[in-house]
Amino acid sequence: MARPLFRRLRPLLLLALLGCASAPQRLRPGVNDRYFDPDAAETWTAVFEGESREVFRHREAIVARLGLSPGMVVGDIGAGTGLFTLPIARAVGETGHVQAVDIVPEFLARIDARVREAGLANVETVLGTEQATTLAGDSLDLAFLCNVYHHIEYPDPYMRSVLGALRPGGTLVVIDFERIEGVTSPPMLKHVRAPKETVLEEILASGFELVREEEGFLQENYYLVFRRP
Ligand SMILES: C[S@@+](CC[C@H](N)C(=O)[O-])C[C@H]1O[C@@H](n2cnc3c(N)ncnc32)[C@H](O)[C@@H]1O
Repeated sequence: MARPLFRRLRPLLLLALLGCASAPQRLRPGVNDRYFDPDAAETWTAVFEGESREVFRHREAIVARLGLSPGMVVGDIGAGTGLFTLPIARAVGETGHVQAVDIVPEFLARIDARVREAGLANVETVLGTEQATTLAGDSLDLAFLCNVYHHIEYPDPYMRSVLGALRPGGTLVVIDFERIEGVTSPPMLKHVRAPKETVLEEILASGFELVREEEGFLQENYYLVFRRP
């Protein structure tokens, strides 16, 4: 006799439920789509490296506060067009190394060209995925994410992959936009998924410890320093 439909479908339903439970949540679908437009490297270099951007105006102070020294291995995660990659590479010197990670091949090609032009030999570009940096485990002294966190579609698996790429005791620096109702502009409220408090909770839940917040020199952005325990 034929089994009732529910019984026949039960194994499939269970598998579907398990899949939902284990699939990471995609929190900001499409947030990176515009980076894949033709001429994106050209267009976004002008945006990322323009005076209207607070982190561009304060780029030297930002890099100075990273506490870099010769020989360090740094992940510039979500490196974009390389605004921070080159100064970081200079600060860690010939004995140090920078892994510039992004999901947009055109941005990485632009970084490669700039690195060649600058005569630097200590930068490697790395094509990551939306869910992982793809960097080797325990390989970084410092991971740097500037205006990247709100572009990460799968924050939990991604930040766990950053955690795994850092050596124990390694540092994570996250700079991202403040999102304050009544203060932040409506377009930014729409663009930035979560306020600092939520970002902090998420990063702690991914396994990091908070070390400090660098306060007072940025207004539109916060600057959080974490460590891998
Ligand atoms: C606003 S840009 C910031 C670029 C650079 N950090 C800067 O401050 O100039 C955000 C960058 O994050 C990258 N990105 C988004 N999701 C990413 C992911 N899962 N892994 C690596 N990079 C990612 C984007 O492609 C883009 O280059």
